[in-house]
Parts: sequence; C-alpha cells; structure tokens
Amino acid sequence: MSELTRTWDLLWKDYTSFNPHAKLIHDEILVNEKAVDPSRAMLVNDHVAFRTFKSPKIGLDVLAQIFLSMGYEYKKDYHFEQKKLYAKHFEHFQDPEMPKVFISELLTEEFSPEVQKVIEFVNDQVPLELTTCPDFLWSGRSWDVSYKTYQTLLQESEYAAWMYVFGFRPNHFTISFNDLKSFKDLKDLNDFVRSKGHSLNSSGGEIKGSPEEHLEQSSTLAGKVEVDFKEGRFEVPACYYEFAKRYPQKDGKLYTGFVAQSADKIFESTDVKH
Ligand code: NI
Repeated sequence: MSELTRTWDLLWKDYTSFNPHAKLIHDEILVNEKAVDPSRAMLVNDHVAFRTFKSPKIGLDVLAQIFLSMGYEYKKDYHFEQKKLYAKHFEHFQDPEMPKVFISELLTEEFSPEVQKVIEFVNDQVPLELTTCPDFLWSGRSWDVSYKTYQTLLQESEYAAWMYVFGFRPNHFTISFNDLKSFKDLKDLNDFVRSKGHSLNSSGGEIKGSPEEHLEQSSTLAGKVEVDFKEGRFEVPACYYEFAKRYPQKDGKLYTGFVAQSADKIFESTDVKH
C-alpha cells in the first residue's frame, strides 16, 4: 500500500469513527449502487476538506506540504471575506481517481485579541515535529478544551470553535456524484439520503451551485458528538458528509475547481444553530 493510500485509509477511519452517519450513508449508497452494478466495490471521493488556523507553524501551506510530498499539486485559491478564510485546492498530478484536497485557514490576524490568544495557545501546543508527517492530518488536538473558551470562539467564528474542539482531522469527505450510476440527479440522491433518516443542510437551498457554475453540491448537517471539556461533557456538532456533481466546461472536460459562494454556505453545515 502506498503512503498516500495508507493516508486516505487512516483519514477515512478517523472521520467515520466520530461521524457514524457518514459511514451509514456511504454503506447505504453502496448497496444502492450494487443493485445496479453488482461488481461495484467502492465509492469515489470527489474531495476531502481540512481546516486550520493561519500561522507559519500550522497554517494551510504546512498541511499542503504533506500532500505536495505525496504527488499533489496546487491548482487554485479562494477567498471567503465574510468568514475571514482563505483556501487552496490541490489535485493529484497523475491520478484523477485520487480525491482532490481542499484546505482552508482562518485569517488569525483579522480576529479579536481574545480569539488570537486561543489560536496562539493551540499553535504552541502542537509539537513541531508532528507538522511534517501525514499523521498530523488526523492527529486531532494536542490541547485540553474549555467549554467557556468554546463559547467565546463561537461568538466570532463557528469555524474557529470547531477547530479548537476537533483539531487536525478531515472536516468532510465528499462523494463524487459523477461516479454513481443509481441516481438520476443530485436531488434524487438528496431524497434518498433523507429517506434513510439523515438531515441535509438547507442554508442557501439544499443544492448549492448550478450547472452554469459547473458544480452542484449538497451536504448533510453535522452530527453531534459528546466532547469532554474541563467543565464537563457537552454535545457539539462534528463533521458533515458532502455530495458533488461536476459538469463539463466548454472544452468538454469536467470542471475540477470549487465555487466560493457555494462553499461559503457549505461551511455552515457545522454551525451549532441548526
Ligand atoms: Ni467540500
């Protein structure tokens, strides 16, 4: 098994270990696919997303370096002004079946001194030697969390609060709709997921994007997990599962980028207010 295959395998295990709904949906869709094509053994991931705080030690480019060393290359960047985020997407240089990688970072300097102090604390707790190996991507957190601090972060950024509680791990995996055979469109897939008892993110409509933008996406709402804080155990939203349908561009090739406006709404799948 290559280092990259091993990495994706461990990331999926980490992700599904505390997002059981994603594993359930994955298996339900696979059963549906097998009814059409019994030889079908797996689902294809469109992309996997990671979050971090902007800093020379743990920022976007530090996470990106791990993927660059495993055959990925930089493709495009994105700005999310309202959420104060910056992101880049990467693709494997030769294997289009490998998931695309989407890494975002919170623009630390644009937040209050209070929030910046928490980010500095997180930054200090991460062992430097950890940041260069693939294990960093599913290392979770190297710090203890306080519910009071979590609440403070929530006031300014849901993203910062999520990062503080969950640390370094995949924020979401995304099923490639284009590689499915048993659903006629994204709405059909959404209806199927809902019929199995899962909730979808309806912020900005269930389907974000359009054929004109060459990308349509939908996602589940993050499931809640119990987290041990210094003050006791509380439930917080963890991660979501995403579905992406890509359309061909004028040159006939499928669009491989992202649509900032749609991603902006998808980020809200981990909001606590749902
Ligand atoms: Ni995504």
